[in-house]
Order: sequence, then structure tokens, then C-alpha cells
Amino acid sequence: MKITSRELTDIFQKHVENLFPNKELKPVEITIATNENFGDYQCNFAMVNSKIIGDNPRKIAEKIKNNFPYGEVVEKLEVAGPGFINIFLTDKYISNSIKNIGESYDFSFLNRKGKIIVDFSCPNIAKRMHIGHLRSTIIGESICRIYRYLGYDVVGDNHLGDWGTQFGKLIVGYRNWLNKEAYEKNPIEELERVYVKFSEEAEKDPSLEDLARAELKKVQDGEEENIKLWKEFITESMKEYNKLYKRLDVHFDTYYGESFYNDMMADVVKELVDKKIAVDDEGAKVVFFDEKDNLFPCIIQKKDGAYLYSTSDIATVKFRKNTYDVNRMIYLTDARQQDHFKQVFKITDMLGWNIEKYHIWFGIIRFADGILSTRKGNVIKLEELLDEAHNRAYDVVNEKNPNLSEEEKQNIAEVVGVSSVKYADLSQNKQSDILFEWDKMLSFEGNTAPYLLYTYARIQSILRKVAEQNIDLNEDIEIKTENKFEKSLATYLLAFPISVLKAAETFKPNLIADYLYELSKKLNSFYNNCPILNQDTDTLKSRALLIKKTGEILKDGLKLLGIPVLNKM
Ligand code: ARG
Repeated sequence: MKITSRELTDIFQKHVENLFPNKELKPVEITIATNENFGDYQCNFAMVNSKIIGDNPRKIAEKIKNNFPYGEVVEKLEVAGPGFINIFLTDKYISNSIKNIGESYDFSFLNRKGKIIVDFSCPNIAKRMHIGHLRSTIIGESICRIYRYLGYDVVGDNHLGDWGTQFGKLIVGYRNWLNKEAYEKNPIEELERVYVKFSEEAEKDPSLEDLARAELKKVQDGEEENIKLWKEFITESMKEYNKLYKRLDVHFDTYYGESFYNDMMADVVKELVDKKIAVDDEGAKVVFFDEKDNLFPCIIQKKDGAYLYSTSDIATVKFRKNTYDVNRMIYLTDARQQDHFKQVFKITDMLGWNIEKYHIWFGIIRFADGILSTRKGNVIKLEELLDEAHNRAYDVVNEKNPNLSEEEKQNIAEVVGVSSVKYADLSQNKQSDILFEWDKMLSFEGNTAPYLLYTYARIQSILRKVAEQNIDLNEDIEIKTENKFEKSLATYLLAFPISVLKAAETFKPNLIADYLYELSKKLNSFYNNCPILNQDTDTLKSRALLIKKTGEILKDGLKLLGIPVLNKM
């Protein structure tokens, strides 16, 4: 189905081209009305084009209004202020559009050629994920879902940190101090422990550092025993990460880690040197930037021949460019990697690799007092975080609805708990630091997951009652928008695809969260003012269908945030 604002744009565009022929007009832009008393949509064409047309904006607006092709879609226009045009849709159009919700939207105007590569999550093997990885995972998954919804071909790549100097130390630690039992129970924690142990021991006995270097060299040279251990670390770590991914309902298409690019780095350095982009600086290979770029020089190969994080990311861009028809690449990490990506992007531009790239960064999550014991800065156990969310959600559900079965309570607690954590992350502007507070996250009021989930469950509960009265909502039903609550909810439903488009364009899932929150508020005030049951049949059917469609949009929108719905709560 056509998106309402696009449909209006087409009608307006044709109309103004007829009215003002042979002018280099700026294109029509239609936006949702900022105040619902002033129509459903609005257009600022007259103001934007007044110089080009050579008349004052109000007059232009009047002219557009007086000759407008009213009919199926537009009921009336009003000129306001300095030349705004307020647009009122016909009831018939609103009713039909609502009925069509569920058909896929027409997003064919987007440039969807090629693949969108989303580089997200990317934990470092043998280490616990930190909050930055959690945010990358949650926001990255949502970005993948949003782009897929728009019909893009998305490749979600978990660019694991599976290569680097830590492996030599880990191998020494593993062979000397591993506690097998602890390792079997929780491999990452035990590997972290032996890693720390290594540092402590190496302080006393510096020869351990040489030993670690030798072990690392063996990994790099492909020596069998050490490669086996390195692979084991990856397998064991992945088992742990996968538990979390499963719980968060997060999926990847590829898992090329940093190690995959190892063999490609020599070529990349050669290309940079051949093209004189990198130069020799006391034995190291370094890229210097223009002063205007305001970037530190970037080392791509150290004096001892070792490659760096940047080198591996440059090789990654090259591989993706040569492997896929790339539409754009999106990276998600915390704010600390901004300079890294600026350097990498600049270097790949200097190489003439023409690819659209975006680094989406975000601020940190802070924890309100007592929310969890944080250890070593922001390294927390994510599993503990989710368990805590589950347990607290359980208490809330138990209090609200004590009659549910134990199994139901547990299921609901898991969905509400995990969703609350996700939603607290996704609903905020990602670049600001956010504060996690259980009471707020799990509240049934305000912009929270429980509020949205509850709104959805409430809709389903009413629909069950409607169904008990043998009312079939699949019949041809006319949706009435006679009072302002019906009207406001109905027109807002039509704006859903626009919020998805905006979220994709700006990489901000919180715009969808905002939309869903606003929609839920409208649904609830509609419900409080417009009884659904015990009405004449036409009204009942109309209102029931309206909330059913609201439920469908809520479900689709939450799915884009990675949140499933509940029929009962
Ligand atoms: N493993 C890295 C870290 O934890 C993040 C990798 C992000 N992706 C990339 N292509 N550099 O800091």
C-alpha cells in the first residue's frame, strides 16, 4: 500500500506543476501536522517557492487551494499563517487506508540496490562483553530489522575480536594455572582469571612475557597445538555469547572475525605504500592526514612488522567491497572508537574505494545505585543483568496478575524483563549516556516496554471479548472517525511507515519507540473515551477494527525493536 504522505506528495506535485509551468520548482514536501486541530498533514511549498514563482506565499497557497483536485484523498485545504497549507484527508480515505494495514507498504522509491552491511556486537574472544557490546548488539539488531523491513538486503556481521596479542598470554595462563572445573562451568570467566593471573605472575617473572610472545608467534605461524587452543577459546567463548544472543533474540549472517583478515593485511599495506598514502616513519608505516582533517597520524604497520586494528579494518572494507555489491556499511560501537573510524574511513576514501560508510556510536549506560554490582569499571555480567530484570519483572507480574499459572508468569517475566532492558536502551537518543533504573524501566507508566506491552495485551483482551460476541472483523467494515479520539488515533496509524523511514535514515531506533509510545497514549485515551463493547453493531465493529489495527502496528513496531508481544499480561 502507498504511504499517505507519499500519496499526497504525488498529488500535490502534479498539481503545482500544472499551476506553475516552466518554473524550476523546489519539490513538494508533505509532513504530518504538528497540531491535529490544523489538519492531518501540512505543506510548506508556497513559502519555499515564493521567490521562484515570484508571488507572495499566501497568494500561492490560495491558488493551490482554489484549484485543487479534491476527491478520494483530500477533503479540504486551509491556508494558515504566512502561507502554510493544512491538509484534511477524507473519511473514506482514512477508513480504507486503515483497513489495508497489514499489506506491505510501497517503499520502492528507496535506492535498495546492493547490500547493507551492519557490523555489530563484535565482542573480544575470551573476554566478557561490556556495556558497549551490549548496546552495539541491541541497537545493531534493531537497525538490521529496520532496514530489512524497508526491503533492503542486509548482512549482519559479527566482527569478532578473535586475533591479537592476548592469545600468547592466554595460552601461557591456560597451560599453567587453569582450573578445569571452573573452566567447564564458565569458560570466559576462567580465561579472564588466568589472563589476570598471567599479568600478576609476569610482574614477578618478566621471562613469562617472552614465553607469551613465543606462543603468540606459534599461533601466527599456524602451529597445530596452539591453533587448537586458539580455536577452543573461540568455541568456548561463542557458546557463552550465543546464550546471550538467544536470550536477546539477536541474529547474524556472518561471523568473519578479525582473524579472517589476517592474510589480507600485507596486501593492504603494500597498496597504501605503492599509492604513497602510507610512508615510512622510523621503520613504521604511517598515514599522515591533511591538517584540515584534524586527525592523528595512523600507524598501519609497526616497526616489528605487526599490523594494527586500523589495518585490519581497512582490509575488512576491501574484502566487503570485493565480495558484495555494497549499498552502505554501518558500524556500531561505543563513542570511544570515533577517531578510529574517522581514520579508517578517511584512508579508504584516499584509496578511492567509493563506499558509503557510517559509524554509529553511542554513549555509555550508567547504573543507578544498587542496580548491580559493577566490577572493573563498566564490565558487568550481562547474564546477571538479564536475570535481575527477569526476577524484578516476575514480582511486578505476580502482583498485577496473581491468578496466572506459574509457567505463564515465568514466560511473561522473561519477555517483560529482557524487553525492558532492550527498550531502555533503544528508546533513548543513543548518543546520550543513559541511566538504568529498575523502577523506571519496569514501570507500567511512561515510555517503557511494560507500558507498550500492556497496551498491546489490553487490546487483545478486548478483541477476545469482541470475538465472544460472534463478531467477525474480517467483514467489510467502515471505520468511523466521527469524534476526535477516533480521528486522532486513525490518522496517527497512517504515520507508522514514516517513523520507520526516519529511523532508518538517521539510524535512530528511538524514533520508532517515540512513535509507539505516542500511539499507545492515543490508543489509551481513545479507549477511555470511546467505549467499544455494548455499542450499536456498526460502532462496535468500527472501534474494534481500529484497535485491532493499532495492535498490528504496535506488534510490527516492537518487532523492529526486537521485542515480542504478549497476548496476556
Ligand atoms: N572488537 C572491537 C571492540 O570490542 C569492536 C569491533 C568493531 N568493528 C570493527 N569492524 N572494528 O572494541
